[in-house]
Amino acid sequence: MTIYLDSHLSDAERRRRLYAGDVFLYSPRPATRALTEFARELIEEAFAPLDPQHAQHALPVERFVEIVAPLKPRFIHHPRTRELLLALLADTGVDMTQTYFDVPRMRVATSNNYLNAGVAYVLHPHRDIWYSSPPCQINWWLPVFEFESESSFAFHPQYFDQIVPNTSGDYNHYEWNRVGRAQAAKEIKADTRKQPKATVPLQLKPDVRIVCPPGGMLMFAGAHLHSTVPNTSGRSRFSIDFRTAQHDDLAAMDGAPAIDRACTGTTLFELRRASDLTPVPEELIRLYDPNPPANREGVVFTPQGAGAATSGGGM
Ligand SMILES: [Fe+2]
Repeated sequence: MTIYLDSHLSDAERRRRLYAGDVFLYSPRPATRALTEFARELIEEAFAPLDPQHAQHALPVERFVEIVAPLKPRFIHHPRTRELLLALLADTGVDMTQTYFDVPRMRVATSNNYLNAGVAYVLHPHRDIWYSSPPCQINWWLPVFEFESESSFAFHPQYFDQIVPNTSGDYNHYEWNRVGRAQAAKEIKADTRKQPKATVPLQLKPDVRIVCPPGGMLMFAGAHLHSTVPNTSGRSRFSIDFRTAQHDDLAAMDGAPAIDRACTGTTLFELRRASDLTPVPEELIRLYDPNPPANREGVVFTPQGAGAATSGGGM
């Protein structure tokens, strides 16, 4: 696995290397800073007068959840968020007419087991492609505040092209969305949905963690095995992430190795084209799900939907 810092490579070459397991790291630049600074403003506003990174030490956990639960959809659906995300995509050299993206998520990883469920679910080792995303999915990840190795997430590169027996066969993306929507409606805080997991013990050390300043950015294949590091930094970690998939790679069913996925359904209904916000064409979707649900109301996540606060395969 190679880590490229501030690479000069074209988007096509970058994607080729991402699909081979390499990671692209970017120093803070105006477009990435603008998105993370906007997220920081919303976070600070929600926790005021407390410092968001230390608020967990001053608040009962129920109050912390009350603050974070509406904060996440506020960020996700804010018109300014999409504006800044599109500006970031254009700035990193992707072809906007060929690139599909989903809404960005906001994650919080609290320290010392303060909160590990629901709004702050700690992700066990997983590949995003176990959650019905296409092998060409690229993950984009940006920290909002300074963070440390002990509040980061970890790559397990030795598994990139090695089969990991897992329960993705039990995962159907539409069922996931349907249950999540029902839970959101009932205001159930803990997420009891069955997550795709490895069924064999994994060798998780040594791992690779990448620490960058706020406004820095990581790009990696959604097929990479990765996990949240149990946060022992003493501070809550806030980050944002989103996914993209490129038109020609979708059409060619190209991308990273998909050697151990058995999930059904597809996330592609959730993506929009960067240039004009049109959905992924039906003929491309059918390559990934030959029998998409006839009635998508209630089973397909829409960026306006109630399920926006939770999503499969975060970090
Ligand atoms: Fe993930």
